[in-house]
Amino acid sequence: MEVTRERAWDTLTKYTQSEALRRHALAVEAAVGWYARHYGEDEELWRATALLHDFDYEMHPTLDKHPQDGAPILREEGYPEELVESVLSHAEHLSMPRDTQLKKTLFACDELAGFVHACGLVRPDGIETLEPKSVRKKLKQPSFAAGVHRDEVYEGAEQLGIELDEHIRNVVEAMRPIAGDIGLRTGAG
Ligand SMILES: [Fe+2]
Ligand SMILES: [Fe+2]
Repeated sequence: MEVTRERAWDTLTKYTQSEALRRHALAVEAAVGWYARHYGEDEELWRATALLHDFDYEMHPTLDKHPQDGAPILREEGYPEELVESVLSHAEHLSMPRDTQLKKTLFACDELAGFVHACGLVRPDGIETLEPKSVRKKLKQPSFAAGVHRDEVYEGAEQLGIELDEHIRNVVEAMRPIAGDIGLRTGAG
């Protein structure tokens, strides 16, 4: 089968009704898609992988099932092993090697996109003027977006080999065009 982001979106929305989970998928997709272009990689495959990384979370909300029990479903749906492996590798508890640029990028974008989203929700202009400095400051406040694993944010940037500030800047830039779609206020009001 040909992997497209449209097809991945169909699969995601078939298994995921939660608006919050769909928005998380879109945020991670934007970031991973940005990096696909940046590295000159297969943008459709990268976007599809990002969209699907938590596709089974609604039915498998615990770590004894997510994402490992989702993998056979993706295979049944016809997705290639490269996508399935990359989806599996985002989970810390599976301890899989992140041995491709796609795996490194997905891991680096997952928690950070969630965190940038959270930062945008409490700002009057969303992520329009969000700077790395204020993201880093919020990362140091454990009570803010407490569900985001800080260690994974730092580890992700390190594995990707990009300075955290630059990575934050890239992810914010990537997410700006979809700010409205993920419930953030935009410059246009
Ligand atoms: Fe996940
Ligand atoms: Fe995620």
